[in-house]
Amino acid sequence: MGKHGRYVLAALVVLGLVLVLPGLAGAAKGGINKPWLGAQIYFDKNLSIGGNQSCASCHWPTAGFSEPDTQYPVSEGSIDGLFGGRSSPSAAYAAFSPLPFFDAKAGTWVGGQFWDGRAPDLVTQAKGPFLNPVEMAMPDEESVVNAVADSYYANDFRAVFGPSALSTVTVVDTTASYHNIAVAIAAFESTGYFNRFSSDFDVLGPNKLTAQQQEGYKLFTGKAMCDLCHPAKKGPYAAEPLFTDFSYDNLGIPVNEEVHTLTGDHSVDRGLGAALVPPDPMHDGKFQVPTLRNVALSPPYGHNGYFATLYDIVHFYNTRDVPGSAPGGGDWDPPEVTANVNTAELGDLGLTSAEELAIVAFLESLTDTPPPVPPMKRPVGVPAPTP
Ligand code: HEC
Ligand code: HEC
Repeated sequence: MGKHGRYVLAALVVLGLVLVLPGLAGAAKGGINKPWLGAQIYFDKNLSIGGNQSCASCHWPTAGFSEPDTQYPVSEGSIDGLFGGRSSPSAAYAAFSPLPFFDAKAGTWVGGQFWDGRAPDLVTQAKGPFLNPVEMAMPDEESVVNAVADSYYANDFRAVFGPSALSTVTVVDTTASYHNIAVAIAAFESTGYFNRFSSDFDVLGPNKLTAQQQEGYKLFTGKAMCDLCHPAKKGPYAAEPLFTDFSYDNLGIPVNEEVHTLTGDHSVDRGLGAALVPPDPMHDGKFQVPTLRNVALSPPYGHNGYFATLYDIVHFYNTRDVPGSAPGGGDWDPPEVTANVNTAELGDLGLTSAEELAIVAFLESLTDTPPPVPPMKRPVGVPAPTP
């Protein structure tokens, strides 16, 4: 895929392989289990049509479990030149998203996976990318199962899920085998490998951050109102703050023309409104509030990667509705979807540029310690994972 910059990351991971892995190393040593199998699968490029892309390619550990290549706003698939229409979100902390439900009191949908919530849970989510033509592009479930059956961890897979776990004799077998692959991935995504809670914010606490970060924290939870949607307090879904309430909103983000050019798709992205069954225009333009943990590691920002830097998106929150405030001095471009734009909680926050920078500094305090070595059992000849 010609991914510039990935060699550095790969080298870091290879270097990491000699270090001791806390958490999952024990699992792998003590026995083969679902999370450990999920790790083998998550980093396995042989499960893509070109043998060049794994889940980790677009959700790489040192890139906040998001796309490590910032050359494009969206990710290139296994087939060269094919791009998805949305930016890769973090696969970390996604495990905490509840099953989708409508919160009637707040008037909002909550939970689910993907920017538009179209998969209810991680297992359903994990079945998507293998077969998505602009991602791993495998032709069908059977070919994914067969690729796992040809892998170095095939017998481990059978040891965990049963002797016929990779059978494709009947359609029912294939469906069950494919399901178990997704179950293993979801189990891995639910471990502390992804959900580390080890940032300065966690370890030092908000009152021991740098002075600028502390100012940013005050703004984040005060004048800038960020915590209305990105709560900095423990919520109902985890014992620690997740910096998302998993609700949906239309921030009024403009069309990203670069994405339209890359995909050749110029249609309006209605987000949640189109994903609901039946589709509901009352929710057009809404996307799920993402976690802000590790956000500094994963530019660009927004579901379509419209903002290149954290500063850009914070400036947008602050000045979307203030004429002449866009970078370069003009007005911000109009929203892609004009319906349902949130004008109550953002758009004209009255922050100074020093205050904007303080918020960016605070967001940088949410970066976890570098993730541990991938918990792989690699026989001789199986190379270390790379993006
Ligand atoms: C080509 C890049 C690419 C590959 C490969 C890929 N993903 Fe993704 N992933 C994305 C994009 C883009 C989205 C958001 C798509 C959307 O919302 O419509 C996403 C969404 C997700 C989400 C939802 C996160 C959230 O907060 O809603 C999870 C979890 C995830 N991927 C895990 C995986 C797993 C597991 C695999 C391998 C089976 C995988 N991804 C392969 C690009 C990729
Ligand atoms: C009304 C709810 C709401 C408020 C208030 C809010 N956000 Fe968001 N935030 C969202 C939603 C929804 C998205 C995803 C929108 C999209 O991509 O279309 C998002 C996306 C982001 C992203 C991009 C993350 C990524 O991975 O691409 C950042 C950074 C961010 N918000 C920071 C902030 C900050 C800083 C504030 C306060 C200045 C703030 N948010 C206030 C709902 C909110």
